[in-house]
Amino acid sequence: MDIGRFWQLFLFVGLMVWLLLVGRALWPALTRKDEMSSIVGLLFLSTVAIGLFYGAGLMWGEHTSLSMVEYWRWWVVHLWVEGFFEVFAVAVISFLFVKLGLVRGATATANVLFATIVFMAGGVLGTFHHLYFAGTTTGVVALGASFSALEVVPLALIGMEAYETWSHSKATPWMARYRWPIMFFIAVSFWNLVGAGLFGFLINTPLALYYMQGLNLTALHGHTALFGVYGMLGIGLMLFCLRGLKPEAMWNETLLRNSFWTFNIGLSLMAALTLLPLGLLQLNAALENGYWFARSAEFMGQPIIDLLVWLRVPGDTIFSVGALLLAWVVMRMWIAPRDKVVVGIAEPVSLK
Ligand code: HEM
Ligand SMILES: [Fe+2]
Repeated sequence: MDIGRFWQLFLFVGLMVWLLLVGRALWPALTRKDEMSSIVGLLFLSTVAIGLFYGAGLMWGEHTSLSMVEYWRWWVVHLWVEGFFEVFAVAVISFLFVKLGLVRGATATANVLFATIVFMAGGVLGTFHHLYFAGTTTGVVALGASFSALEVVPLALIGMEAYETWSHSKATPWMARYRWPIMFFIAVSFWNLVGAGLFGFLINTPLALYYMQGLNLTALHGHTALFGVYGMLGIGLMLFCLRGLKPEAMWNETLLRNSFWTFNIGLSLMAALTLLPLGLLQLNAALENGYWFARSAEFMGQPIIDLLVWLRVPGDTIFSVGALLLAWVVMRMWIAPRDKVVVGIAEPVSLK
């Protein structure tokens, strides 16, 4: 949201291209009537919503009142990211599990519909948890507080799903081929619970936000939820597609395992060594001396803050190693690949 208008428009064009590509691939499945119709329909709707809702970020200009800017900005952060992405994530993971034969279509459909209803029921009015202090009325504060509290419900349900996923991942020997995409999907559930659920809920109530809006506790939530959920989801989906693209390629399991763990440990260290302690110190400063002090140069210039900022180095470095390892594994699928060693079936899963 902070990027210049040209780049915003450019990103919007990119999203439209993405929508076109995904829509085109989903179209044959959309026109078919079978037990998967509802999941495919929801997947398609969330894709359309993801493509279009970024447009809310174009609703203001340099002379717009700050209250209006905040209103539309949170359409993007909350409705787009915390809402429709979440529906997309649930739908796409369920869809793949049905295709892998791990879950029955009817069961998955019921789950996805239920999760979507719960997400949207809490999520849409939950947007107000960002608008408590943006010049809105008391009614908005009350509605926002009540409905955003409900947002944690679907995340807890997703946590339970993760356990099921885990047991499925060992269900059949040929599942070994999909072990790493599935591990990344499990990481999605974990960070959904911790990053979005726990750290999101921590800063969720009007009373909490009165003291801690925009402090490092928000960064703690933002980083763990955004990368933890959608970064991991993106990697999982990419690995899944690579399996289909190069079914005969042998993955370097050790490197992938290391990449998976360095991503997760790096993100955890970033949160535990810097963002959480820094956020708590800022919260204490806000409670003792007022909100203004928690963000002042005087407070942020203290040696302890400097130290905490430097403590990002270990976590961020470990995290970067994860990215390099993953890039290496993917590159090796094309450059000097180790082919033809196949665990179980050789057939890639057809998404048609
Ligand atoms: C995967 C899901 C989620 C993602 C990716 C996410 C991401 C983010 C990000 C990036 C921000 C900071 C935006 C900014 O300051 O411009 C934010 C703020 C916030 N999020 Fe989330 N979030 C998620 C779910 C949740 C949930 C479930 C809750 C509460 C139940 C929540 C509550 C909040 C609140 C209250 C803020 C505002 C903090 C402030 O103004 O200081 N989020 N979120
Ligand atoms: Fe939100």
